[in-house]
Amino acid sequence: MNEKYTPLFKSLKLPNGVEVKNRFVLAPLTHVSSNEDGTISDIEIPYIEKRSKDVGISISAASYVEPLGQAFPGQPSVSKDADLPGLKKQAEVMKKNGAKALIQIHHGGAMSLPGLTPTGEAAAPSEVEVRGFGQQETHVARELTVEEIEHSIESFAKATKIAIDAGFDGIEIHGANHYLIHQFFSPYYNRREDAWGDHLKYPLAIIEAVTKVVREHGTPDFIVGYRFSPEEVESPGISMELTEKLVKALTEQPLDYLHVSLMDIHSTTRDGRYKGEQRVKLLLEWIDGKLPLIGIGSIFTAEDAIKALDTGAPLIALGRELLLDHEFVAKIEQGREDEIVSEFDPERTDLHELPKPLWEQFNAKFYPLPRKDEKATETK
Ligand SMILES: Cc1cc2nc3c(=O)[nH]c(=O)nc-3n(C[C@H](O)[C@H](O)[C@H](O)COP(=O)(O)O)c2cc1C
Repeated sequence: MNEKYTPLFKSLKLPNGVEVKNRFVLAPLTHVSSNEDGTISDIEIPYIEKRSKDVGISISAASYVEPLGQAFPGQPSVSKDADLPGLKKQAEVMKKNGAKALIQIHHGGAMSLPGLTPTGEAAAPSEVEVRGFGQQETHVARELTVEEIEHSIESFAKATKIAIDAGFDGIEIHGANHYLIHQFFSPYYNRREDAWGDHLKYPLAIIEAVTKVVREHGTPDFIVGYRFSPEEVESPGISMELTEKLVKALTEQPLDYLHVSLMDIHSTTRDGRYKGEQRVKLLLEWIDGKLPLIGIGSIFTAEDAIKALDTGAPLIALGRELLLDHEFVAKIEQGREDEIVSEFDPERTDLHELPKPLWEQFNAKFYPLPRKDEKATETK
């Protein structure tokens, strides 16, 4: 290995004493490939095994905690006993080579797809019109009742118990990317006038419910992480000033890491008091060493990885790159970083070893990606 990359392979101790073997994290990645009932399909197992083998922490795709929260076709479920056998198999292959295996627990809220939920509706902190995953048309999500809010919290707790029973090393609470927990925190989505209109109440209630289950049924080394989005485009929406409050509150919770959701790890604050300042730098200041931060966003080369670590984030997650090349980490470790595949090649259905539905989404440009065909056109 080129010596300059050695810091990426140093182990790291989490607050609960768990040792993570290196600084790489497999980002949670929705692959639209589970069975229709949310159980784990046969194609998911080799897919996630390959992408877990070299990282320190491996996080599975957003998995719904109750059917009203399903936001993607082919989304995995962590909501019922029938999910257990598949989840056990998934946890086993994720952990096989020493990665800590985490499941991302999720509820779509407004973004749930009415065509997939049991009653054909989506529900959110307040009524809102949104466009969900892959939707051409918008849908209107109705307001959740207080009983439904309480039920959703119990669902996150039950999902945690299922994750423990399935043999996962931990869970990641999905508080990012415009889904239910994010919606409760956001002034754009949460315009409630009851007690749940307090923007921190729901995220903290989830943490409390989940960590209670861990204390009662898990072991002290069970990992609980929290993912959040630091800013949203909507106005009034989540601003960096609000995120400062969230992050400071989260550092007081019994969590083992925080995970920021960004498309570019070096990105700067869009607006407000902190406009132009690097988001990761601000977050690290606010976290003040109390918890490790996972940074993420547009790491496609070995050089990108080391620059990402230089931001001060002790852990770095890889999303699209591990989809393009699951050998990314191994290639750096073996001094073969010049062999890393950093572009999607639409002419090759075999190269990236992706489940077919995900390959098709990539081919249809559903996600922004460096692409071989576009590069070719640009140079013409
Ligand atoms: C195909 C795909 C699926 C994703 N699914 C999830 C998900 O299930 N949960 C989540 O929190 N983020 C999800 N994201 C966001 C990624 O975790 C990550 O934050 C984003 O891709 C930026 O990282 P990258 O530049 O390394 O790809 C997804 C992104 C992509 C491209």
